[in-house]
Amino acid sequence: MLSVKDVTTFIQGKKIIHDISLDIKPGEIVGLIGPNGTGKTTFMKTVLGLTKFTGSISIDKQRITENNHQALKKVGALIEHPAIYPFLTGRQNLLLYSESNKDLEEIISTLKMENFIDKKSKNYSLGMKQKLGIGIALLNNPELVILDEPMNGLDIESTIMIRDVIRKYANQGCMFLISSHILGELQKVMTQVVLLRSGKVILNRSMDLLNQDSSKKYYVQVDKKNLIENLLSRNNIDYQWVDNCLEIDSQDVKLMQDLIFQNGFYLNRLEPEKLNLEEKVIRILSDKEGSNNEE
Ligand SMILES: Nc1ncnc2c1ncn2[C@@H]1O[C@H](COP(=O)(O)OP(=O)(O)O)[C@@H](O)[C@H]1O
Ligand SMILES: [Mg+2]
Repeated sequence: MLSVKDVTTFIQGKKIIHDISLDIKPGEIVGLIGPNGTGKTTFMKTVLGLTKFTGSISIDKQRITENNHQALKKVGALIEHPAIYPFLTGRQNLLLYSESNKDLEEIISTLKMENFIDKKSKNYSLGMKQKLGIGIALLNNPELVILDEPMNGLDIESTIMIRDVIRKYANQGCMFLISSHILGELQKVMTQVVLLRSGKVILNRSMDLLNQDSSKKYYVQVDKKNLIENLLSRNNIDYQWVDNCLEIDSQDVKLMQDLIFQNGFYLNRLEPEKLNLEEKVIRILSDKEGSNNEE
């Protein structure tokens, strides 16, 4: 398990990471999401012991410091641009790090790199370099894999393939910390979303919790419009008509159902409003601002 506690990182005297705490457990895929310049890369470098920091970082209770990288033996990483030797082939690059030929061959085939892996990497496209970088990070069965904007430069087909590969490793217990400046990009693969703004965590929530119904409104389709309007008004239920549907607050749903039943009407349709991930996140953040609750 990766455990990050109260980590603050200064670069050239400037506080870039503010007091971040987060845990990653085996099998979890944590998406680190935030706009450019917000500190995602710096945070990942800090976890890899590449910057000075205060607070504590440990993997399986083994501390990581700027000078002690022992705990990083079981960590694979791709930070910013992949560290690739351009005059070597992709395979030779992999061989620099690989401890098992079987594992290496498996990675070449899982990442579908067969058709370019034996060519010099200086001629690789951005996507090919990116795949090779991800391949290096996945070598030697790591416990934790850190991928900084891994989808950059990948076409849709490769993006889908990389998502599958990440899931496959996570299913075997590997932990992932993956950054992206696009919330939706990791939506289909992350199990936990961590939003970063100006070096601070402003939201850390499991996707399961986010996917739970947080609808505040319901849409209702009924016959006998006039009678229903009358009934709702008399019982002080607010409503409005949207595309021939009644829109009511979720807190009024039960009362409305009772009233409709007691008065011998029928519901044709009752549906919670559907929010996409971005709308859900915006709603949670604005609710938090309103109540001033720290997560
Ligand atoms: N080596 C550095 N020297 C000076 N400032 C840096 C350095 N690395 C990062 N920063 C600053 O830290 C902030 C966060 O950068 P970064 O971690 O790269 O953000 P992100 O990966 O989210 O785009 C930026 O304001 C950037 O200018
Ligand atoms: Mg970055």
